Amino acid sequence: MSTHIAAEAGQIAPRVLLPGDPLRAKFIAENFLENVQCYSSVRNMLGFTGTYKGKEVSVQGTGMGTPSQGIYVNELIQFYGAKRLIRVGTCGSIDPTLRLRDMVIVQAAATDSGMNHNRFGIHGILYPPVADFRLLREAVDASERLGYPARVCTTFSSDQFYDENGEEKDKLLLKYGVSCVEMECSELFTLGARFGVQALGILTVSDMIFEKEYCSAKEREQSFTRMMEVALETI
Ligand code: HPA
Repeated sequence: MSTHIAAEAGQIAPRVLLPGDPLRAKFIAENFLENVQCYSSVRNMLGFTGTYKGKEVSVQGTGMGTPSQGIYVNELIQFYGAKRLIRVGTCGSIDPTLRLRDMVIVQAAATDSGMNHNRFGIHGILYPPVADFRLLREAVDASERLGYPARVCTTFSSDQFYDENGEEKDKLLLKYGVSCVEMECSELFTLGARFGVQALGILTVSDMIFEKEYCSAKEREQSFTRMMEVALETI
């Protein structure tokens, strides 16, 4: 039992999928895993362990933003021995060639997060949060094997969903090769590096930020299923 997760030692698998939404965690467990057990419902931030093709996999809701991501990822790694962690979620696209429902495998995360500012900024350091290369390669291989195209991208892990200066920041980042915006990958990658475990993000584009276009519920569901297959084959 850790502060925010009520599992006993051994109840969480070394392979963990991380959706932001706890009800997404429940949906994944019920629809993609077998022999499922719920190991925690503290704060309704649900966590489940089950099997996928005989492989033990956990799925843990993390909430939104880097502080919440940091709480769950720290506890999964330090208390429960998580070794391979993949965030599965949605992102907004700022790149006109990256369209609604496209799948993104995240290679690196630019960030304005206060978390990394607190860690590194006071030393004048700009730290580069990057995904684990082996996990990244396995995800690319899985997407090719399954025939589901995916783009390897750099994301912007933003602290603010409602950011008055968001458009200015997104336009600047696009010029420097950043394609999408979400709110968690930088913290996951930073903690993966800190504790020597493998971390990756696999995302689906749910909105075009500049064009103000959004996926319908049905489109979200179909693209979510493809992303989950890639994540489960990879983890
Ligand atoms: N901004 C931040 N996070 C997001 C977005 C967005 O537009 N879409 C999905 N996650």
